[in-house]
Amino acid sequence: MTDISGKAAVVTGGGSGIGMGLARELARQGASVAVADIMLEKAQKVAAAIQAAGGKAVAIQCDVCERDSIRRMKEEAEAALGPIQLVFANAGATSFDPLTEMSDDDVDWILQVNLHGVMNTTRAFLPGMIAAGGGHICATASMAGLLPGWIPVHVPYSAAKAGIIGLMMNLALELKEHGIHTTSYCPGGVATGMKANNALYRPTKFGGPGEGEVHVGEESGKVTSLAFYTPEAIAPMVLDAVKNNLAFAFDHPEQRVHFRETYSAVVEACYDAAEEWERTHGVPEANPHGAKLLDA
Ligand SMILES: NC(=O)c1ccc[n+]([C@@H]2O[C@H](COP(=O)([O-])OP(=O)(O)OC[C@H]3O[C@@H](n4cnc5c(N)ncnc54)[C@H](O)[C@@H]3O)[C@@H](O)[C@H]2O)c1
Repeated sequence: MTDISGKAAVVTGGGSGIGMGLARELARQGASVAVADIMLEKAQKVAAAIQAAGGKAVAIQCDVCERDSIRRMKEEAEAALGPIQLVFANAGATSFDPLTEMSDDDVDWILQVNLHGVMNTTRAFLPGMIAAGGGHICATASMAGLLPGWIPVHVPYSAAKAGIIGLMMNLALELKEHGIHTTSYCPGGVATGMKANNALYRPTKFGGPGEGEVHVGEESGKVTSLAFYTPEAIAPMVLDAVKNNLAFAFDHPEQRVHFRETYSAVVEACYDAAEEWERTHGVPEANPHGAKLLDA
């Protein structure tokens, strides 16, 4: 079990949507919360709402694409709340454009904010958590990371979200001995400000804030979830997964049908084909020296 009450937490991208829901629910369950966001005013609003409800929160500006910015945010968070033991690496941005039509800046931005953002956040907070002897890292991935064929025109996003899942699962092995657990949260449709505000999140080094809402073409619209839940409704589900040290958190159980389609296709197409090849040609000869190729 991971305790939440009495712990200090940080939520990146805590200024709106899923992050805001998590920050408020963490506070409701007795954690103090550092609400970190690239847009300070939004983080301040969330922190103020938590305080008004009797909770403890601090708002801190940070850009998860920048290591220095995260390190500074960590110093500020711990100065205000003490050692952070619950990390919610949630900040992210999306794009629904064909890869060849994306600018280099946008490709770099989507990869960095989603994947490097989680890596940077994890690396900033981990040494303190190890020193404290416990804690939990919950990264917001996406169903698009587990099912990379799910949503069309989502290439850098799907790659980054799949990377987050690899990051969390592999890190869990390293952290076992420290009593620290990881969770990949894979939202399947939450009503948030992402579609309307996404362009505003683009940091200066990737071209700066843009205008207009994300255009989701018909092809992608068809496969996204029909039900969009509220951040308030899904936050307790995610925190439950954290409390139970689950490797994954989901909010749309009905989407399990897509796993069956995707992964049974992998097993049937690829492994059946490999088996068929072995039946015809025989099992490949094993190297007598194991993994090491002696004349390489
Ligand atoms: N909403 C969904 O259905 C859905 C589905 C799958 C995954 N997600 C993931 O959930 C996470 C939260 O998204 P949301 O839907 O709540 O959207 P949102 O737009 O409401 O919230 C994103 C927050 O992240 C902040 N942010 C953006 N770039 C940042 C940066 N460089 N540094 C710090 N903060 C930054 C924004 O200011 C914003 O407050 C994202 O990682 C997103 O990819 C959302």
